[in-house]
Amino acid sequence: MKLKLIYAAMALTMGAASLKAQQVPAYLDQKQPIEVRVKDALSRMTLEEKVKLCSAQSKFSSHGVPRLGIPEIWMSDGPHGVREEILWDSWGNAEWTNDSCTAFPALTCLAATWNPKMSAIYGKAVGEEARYRRKDVLLGPGVNIYRTPLNGRNFEYMGEDPYLASIMVVPYVKGVQSNGVSACVKHYALNNQEVWRGNIDVELSDRALNEIYLPAFKAAIVDGGSWSIMGSYNKVRGEHACHNDLLLNKILKGEWKFDGCVITDWGGAHDTKEAVLNGLDIEMGSYTNGLSSGKKFAYDDYYLASAYLKGLKDGTYPMSTIEDKASRILRLIFRTAMNSDRPWGSFTNEEHYTVARTVAQEGIVLLKNEADKKKGAVLPLDASKYRSILVVGENATRRLTEGGGSSVLKVKKEVSPLAGLQAKFGDKIKYTMGYASGKPVYDREMKPGFDTDSLRKEAVKQAAEVDLIIFVGGLNKNNFQDCENADRKSLALPFGQNELINDMLKVNKNIVMVLLSGNAVEMPWIKSIPSILQAWYPGSESGNAIADVLTGEVNPSGKLPFSFPVKLTDNAAHSFGTISYPGDGVKEVYKEDILVGYRWHDTKKIPALFPFGHGLSYTQFKYGKAVADKKTISGSEELTITIPVKNVGKVKGKEVVQLYIGDEKCSVLRPVKELKSFQKIELAPGEEQTVSFKIGQDALKFFSETAHNWLAEPGAFKVYIGSSSTDIRSTVDFVLN
Ligand code: GLC
Repeated sequence: MKLKLIYAAMALTMGAASLKAQQVPAYLDQKQPIEVRVKDALSRMTLEEKVKLCSAQSKFSSHGVPRLGIPEIWMSDGPHGVREEILWDSWGNAEWTNDSCTAFPALTCLAATWNPKMSAIYGKAVGEEARYRRKDVLLGPGVNIYRTPLNGRNFEYMGEDPYLASIMVVPYVKGVQSNGVSACVKHYALNNQEVWRGNIDVELSDRALNEIYLPAFKAAIVDGGSWSIMGSYNKVRGEHACHNDLLLNKILKGEWKFDGCVITDWGGAHDTKEAVLNGLDIEMGSYTNGLSSGKKFAYDDYYLASAYLKGLKDGTYPMSTIEDKASRILRLIFRTAMNSDRPWGSFTNEEHYTVARTVAQEGIVLLKNEADKKKGAVLPLDASKYRSILVVGENATRRLTEGGGSSVLKVKKEVSPLAGLQAKFGDKIKYTMGYASGKPVYDREMKPGFDTDSLRKEAVKQAAEVDLIIFVGGLNKNNFQDCENADRKSLALPFGQNELINDMLKVNKNIVMVLLSGNAVEMPWIKSIPSILQAWYPGSESGNAIADVLTGEVNPSGKLPFSFPVKLTDNAAHSFGTISYPGDGVKEVYKEDILVGYRWHDTKKIPALFPFGHGLSYTQFKYGKAVADKKTISGSEELTITIPVKNVGKVKGKEVVQLYIGDEKCSVLRPVKELKSFQKIELAPGEEQTVSFKIGQDALKFFSETAHNWLAEPGAFKVYIGSSSTDIRSTVDFVLN
């Protein structure tokens, strides 16, 4: 009997052993929870293999573990489309023939839709393109706050208000990651300019940090669940953001409980000890100083490469640091490259072009459309009224997906504004360039290859002969314009556009202005131009979306995500001397504190040329009286505010009903009002909808520097509801007990 038992036991172990042999190791088993896979993989890796995970192996990839079949992580720019393939160890283009992508509108346009549904379809589509191009991390979205209108990269971000950016970033992150591709929200944090971006040390208050500059990042991480985040180049309170104890250990991984990877901006690491101890996980681009010079294939020299391994072996750095970093990186790999359930993506298909066009249609902002007493408003354009229409401006034909820095795109299609207008109006459309700007280059200005005088003379001559002029100007992706690595030098329209506009006005007053830019510009001719469209950088479907709105096929519903100041010194950052912007080359102090954008304009009573939240429609919306269901709230009670909105015009339209809150009396300085909710509604002519908002204590809080926490102080509050931050249609007072 005993023998039998022994045989049975032997058979069992043999069976189990052979079964085990066939059994897939846990880290390779898709059915296993990620944490089990992480632990199992760690248990099989050597120290060298773990350290390798923490740094780049090429310009846009970081190491895997080849021995265990754990793939490397492939990353790619950018926020509004998947960048063409870059060479292994330099910034050159690989010149592939199958990587021409869809260009989605730049993110200021997405923010200008004030429609989270647009973010959702956008994120899913751009994530599908990244997945199709076999990328595991898409290096976007950017959510740095629009602090100065000179920042070269504002076009990549979501405007001046933390609440708008926080609402708009979440569906984008979720959409990208629904493809098994990681978003990488950037640049964390306080990268609000390009001048001295690599070293400028930003000083600011805890209130400004928490109330203005962190919320969108927190939303992307806590609500959006972003699997990675990119540290910014600058310093914050003395430490580089890519290895910053406050930003990474205390706030991101501590308070926000981030379980993903912190990735440097390219060349953003500067010190091994800080990189090891201050929360950095993957170092990209360093030593080859991330951007241009340095030894080729210098990857062992990275701060988190051999120096780190040495420090672990000789006990300088605790092993717990590499366990944490390697766990986070493996988690990223199991969520992406080793997630065999993820979809396969898609690329430059009609669905993506439709997404690009829809977002652009909803993001274009009608800034002005003055109705002439006799002739009415110029927009929407009724072609039958015009024998000839002259399109003037280099931006009517220039490829605006080129240039701009790392968000540059090689596209399969980019419908120019001219092409979009020709598609609608046929040979009624004439064109002349009018002004020229030169090739887009990254680090210097290129003179235009044209004689600007002759361009202007020709434009004025032709302008005198036509019924209507559509001027397509603005900025572009050249250095010192909307471009990375430099800021603009002024708020003015460049390349002689103002002179050209003034000269044309002398011969023909019928000018419609279409501005393509990611930034505010001065408009000295504002009084003479009856109709102005802010059209951003709409991407592959640019011309179609612009023509859709100009003709009224689409009724514009975009709202400004940032203020247009009348002049530069009306802007907060430019009101405290050079230490406030651009800094003194070493340090910069955000002296305006929490009064960024409309918060400044409202509180200092400086009217903007066009205020935050502004945007017109071809129809009109009438707001009724806002009504609150309570006079006072306390504790976790919520206030319900309702307001009827009616379309009193002739065409269907969308309106963004905005709700701002003002703390009437507080122990600390607070802006007059702050955006705390909004709803985009669509109404047919004559249709009325009652819009309802729920307001809780969170919407009343400020960040207390003494309590180091968010507080709502009891007292009187005012709710402002309107069509922009200054076009307030109704208010309601209530008290917080
Ligand atoms: C650039 C940019 C960053 C980009 C990265 C890779 O310098 O700052 O946004 O993702 O390097 O190109």
